[in-house]
Amino acid sequence: MTDIMTGDRRMRELIALAKTVAASKATVLVQGESGTGKELMASLVHENSNRASRPFVAINCAAIPENLLESELFGYERGAFTGAVTSKAGRFEFANGGTILLDEISEMDVRLQAKLLRVIQEGEVDRIGGRKPIPVDVRIIATTNRNLAECVKEGTFREDLFYRLNVVNLTLPPLRERIGDVGVLSSHFVKVYADKNGKTISGIAPEAASLLDAHNWPGNIRELENVVERAVITAQETTIQARDIVLERRSPINLIAAVDDGQEKITWEPGRTLDDIERGVILEALNYHQGNRTHTAKALGISIRTLRNKLADYRRLGMNV
Ligand SMILES: Nc1ncnc2c1ncn2[C@@H]1O[C@H](COP(=O)(O)OP(=O)(O)OP(=O)(O)O)[C@@H](O)[C@H]1O
Ligand SMILES: [Mg+2]
Repeated sequence: MTDIMTGDRRMRELIALAKTVAASKATVLVQGESGTGKELMASLVHENSNRASRPFVAINCAAIPENLLESELFGYERGAFTGAVTSKAGRFEFANGGTILLDEISEMDVRLQAKLLRVIQEGEVDRIGGRKPIPVDVRIIATTNRNLAECVKEGTFREDLFYRLNVVNLTLPPLRERIGDVGVLSSHFVKVYADKNGKTISGIAPEAASLLDAHNWPGNIRELENVVERAVITAQETTIQARDIVLERRSPINLIAAVDDGQEKITWEPGRTLDDIERGVILEALNYHQGNRTHTAKALGISIRTLRNKLADYRRLGMNV
């Protein structure tokens, strides 16, 4: 059974929403940066639906070349093309009665998008070279780590298909915006990997935990999982120490503690605006002070009112702070 660990309110709301909509046949679009748990969320929807005992078929649209993707998804009849010596059912037929996960849907070619739209609208698939459509009853979940509305604007994704897929939208926040999740998830992964490796590790030493807290996790939960797995493997004591934590690169925006002692400077990176940096710093400070606004405002040297106004702005941007 899929278990999505979180202490973050926005995530809990998304999980609750996912479970609620699971019962319907509604198409679900799961958006989020790489490693935020999109596939996990898709499994959660399937497992909580009345299709749970039926197949859950996943296909990664980015990993398969266009012509192969077409025959994988829709199947083909014998003689449809050179090499089609027998006929073959596509994934949609295999998923009949269950759920199909179309991973990284933004990478699907526009011509196939049209075919997919037909499946959604008509509830039937056309095998390549097939003479008559085959009815299928499949729940569709699509994931993307790109902003699909942007892809529509750029003309690489069909607008009508976007609306068909986006009936229920689950946009997963990046790890750096989740309050408390670095702690919750790192403890969880310590347990998982200590068990797996037969080691006795009771937790994470405070210095190690603050290293994890200060990182901005561009690779999100997957990155955290890898870092903790490695830490567990190299740990020589019964708690994870700072030396066991190896991070890809230290985030320039999350170094409040380091900035305080003058060791490091907050730096700019291409694509990052001053507002982005400010938002990152504020959220990180809030995280560090476990959501306590008075302490956060004081630490940042701003009034509590300024802090409230900024948080209100972020909420308007859709963040749950
Ligand atoms: N909340 C969570 N609790 C426990 N494990 C999690 C959680 N979120 C993600 N994971 C784990 O992190 C890893 C990445 O998750 P997943 O593959 O679902 O992400 P994704 O968004 O599909 O990533 P990508 O965009 O790279 O395909 C998996 O090993 C998954 O089990
Ligand atoms: Mg994925």
